[in-house]
Amino acid sequence: MTETTPKRLFIKTYGCQMNVYDSERMRDVLRPLGYAATETPSDADLVVLNTCHIREKATEKVYSELGQLKKMKQASGGKMTIAVAGCVAQAEGAEIMRRQPAVDLVLGPQAYHKLPEMVARASRAAGDRLETEFETLEKFDALPKAREADGPTAFLSVQEGCDKFCTFCVVPYTRGAELSRPVDDIMVEARSLASQGVRDISLLGQNVNAFHGAAPAIEGGEEWTLGRLARHLAKVGGIDRIRYTTSHPRDMDDDLVAAHGDTPEIMPFLHLPVQSGSDTILKAMNRGHTAERYLEIMRGVRAARPDIALASDFIVGFPGERDEDFEATMDLVREVNYSIAYSFKYSPRPGTPAADMFGQVPEEVKDERLQRLQALLREQQTTFNASKIGETLPVLVTGRGRMDGQIHGRSPYMQSVHFDGPAALIGEIVNVRIEGASLNSLSGVLPDASEAAA
Ligand code: SAH
Ligand code: SF4
Ligand code: F3S
Repeated sequence: MTETTPKRLFIKTYGCQMNVYDSERMRDVLRPLGYAATETPSDADLVVLNTCHIREKATEKVYSELGQLKKMKQASGGKMTIAVAGCVAQAEGAEIMRRQPAVDLVLGPQAYHKLPEMVARASRAAGDRLETEFETLEKFDALPKAREADGPTAFLSVQEGCDKFCTFCVVPYTRGAELSRPVDDIMVEARSLASQGVRDISLLGQNVNAFHGAAPAIEGGEEWTLGRLARHLAKVGGIDRIRYTTSHPRDMDDDLVAAHGDTPEIMPFLHLPVQSGSDTILKAMNRGHTAERYLEIMRGVRAARPDIALASDFIVGFPGERDEDFEATMDLVREVNYSIAYSFKYSPRPGTPAADMFGQVPEEVKDERLQRLQALLREQQTTFNASKIGETLPVLVTGRGRMDGQIHGRSPYMQSVHFDGPAALIGEIVNVRIEGASLNSLSGVLPDASEAAA
């Protein structure tokens, strides 16, 4: 095969938005080698599984997928190259190739820029097939600066890694220490996205509000915070909407809270995971804040931006969680009133301190608590969505709907909105009158297509 023969690439992404972003960057580095995306793994020359290690279920999914891929590889006469990337790759390394010998390459999240070289070597069936060193800045420096945008919304990674070491979490081990990208590099990427029609940018990081990137060379001096970066990005022509995820309560500074009130480009949505409403459990989790401190932050952002939609993550059944601890979580949820939240049963992860703690909670208790919590969260989510009925919201149109003549988009509050309209509106921000709401989306009508609010 020469460099110009089109080769087919299939990437399957698990886990968080960081992985979604990384998958895009892997497509970017492979494009010059002639790799083009294909819809199904069975006809792919290269299959990449970009994996997640956060809970046991996430990890097990990868091995069952690899079992399927092995059959496809055999059917292809062994021509398919299988690569495992992401956090399982980082955590389990060579063990993956032992468990599933059909795997050709294993590369951790800091090694994506080496993918072309590794693929080339694997096709010669020689050399290094494992790359899991931590060299984050090298990765960012080596990745192409320009990006190919895919629609009017995009992720932009500004920070990676985590030093918080919550006792339940694998991320500090799979993603390494906290590290921020220099502001200049972020601006280059942001402008490139804006020039391709991206209007809604989500700044990403495992602890995105811990961002402390090097100030622009022309300014020199100190590092920038996330609030400062967001205010600066808001001035880039074409970028109308800025979001950031995921934040940690410990890094939520006053300036960032204030920016929600004084910078309209910063969208009225904040995902600030709390995990538990019990101070005893928060302490055992090593979260470094109390429930009251979290509530104080939430009151602060609501004061700055009264219509803000608030989101969180929760873990139920952390070791030692008593009924009263769980009830404290339910109380906190009632007090905050979320627009959306993700909740999980605690899953012991090998090598993390909580996995060896006393007081592991029985599965039935975790199930029962999760059901109660999710019922409350569903109720809040439905109520939040329904509260928009009758309002006219500026919706960024992101694509065609399932039915002919239907399109859909994203509200400022991160809701998905469906309505009838021409596909020519994709990429525009239009006013939509909301008429219906369900748990997961809104429906509405375009009062007048000419009202496109540029
Ligand atoms: N950096 C982010 C999110 C990390 S992972 C933060 O600090 O909030 C995403 C979510 O997965 C976490 O917020 C947590 O709710 C959940 N999670 C992480 N480890 C888990 C575990 N061992 N068991 C169950 N849920 C877990
Ligand atoms: Fe994991 Fe805690 Fe870091 Fe979030 S802050 S990534 S939950 S260790
Ligand atoms: Fe999963 Fe890694 Fe993200 S463990 S949640 S893919 S950082």
